[in-house]
Amino acid sequence: MTISINVNGEDHPIEADPDTPLLYVLRDNLELNGAKYGCGLGQCGACTVHVDGKAIVSCLMPVGALGQRQVRTVEGLGTIQKPNVVQKAFQDEQAAQCGYCIAGMIMRAQALLDRVPSPTEEDIRLHMQPNLCRCGTHARILRAVQRASRELSLTMAKGEVQ
Ligand code: FES
Repeated sequence: MTISINVNGEDHPIEADPDTPLLYVLRDNLELNGAKYGCGLGQCGACTVHVDGKAIVSCLMPVGALGQRQVRTVEGLGTIQKPNVVQKAFQDEQAAQCGYCIAGMIMRAQALLDRVPSPTEEDIRLHMQPNLCRCGTHARILRAVQRASRELSLTMAKGEVQ
């Protein structure tokens, strides 16, 4: 069956069973491999993307349930040459060890900062809780989100748009 989904601002007609998890469609049909398969059970956050600005686990989202909602993946934030503020902060804090969880971490952090540009440490800890890092770089991830928040505040103070 043909389903149309909007990912990173573009409409994509895809051939898939409506029950197919969004994660599989992103990776297999659209070759957007940032979101990762970790547990397939909604318990690790490696597959986190945004749907209408909210962080969701794409392994549990049937593609047929999306309708007109907009999907954003880590590929929609920035590029290797031009990372966005959150991606750059994760690089600068060297938040990745093996890197498997990082796209999901960045998407969850981005969803928080889109809503709350200056979160407290507790806000960040609570918001990031569903995403797991088996390498244990949580302290660096926390610093990366704090760095991104500071950068965004500076950008807003200067009146620049990101
Ligand atoms: Fe989706 Fe683990 S793969 S939450």
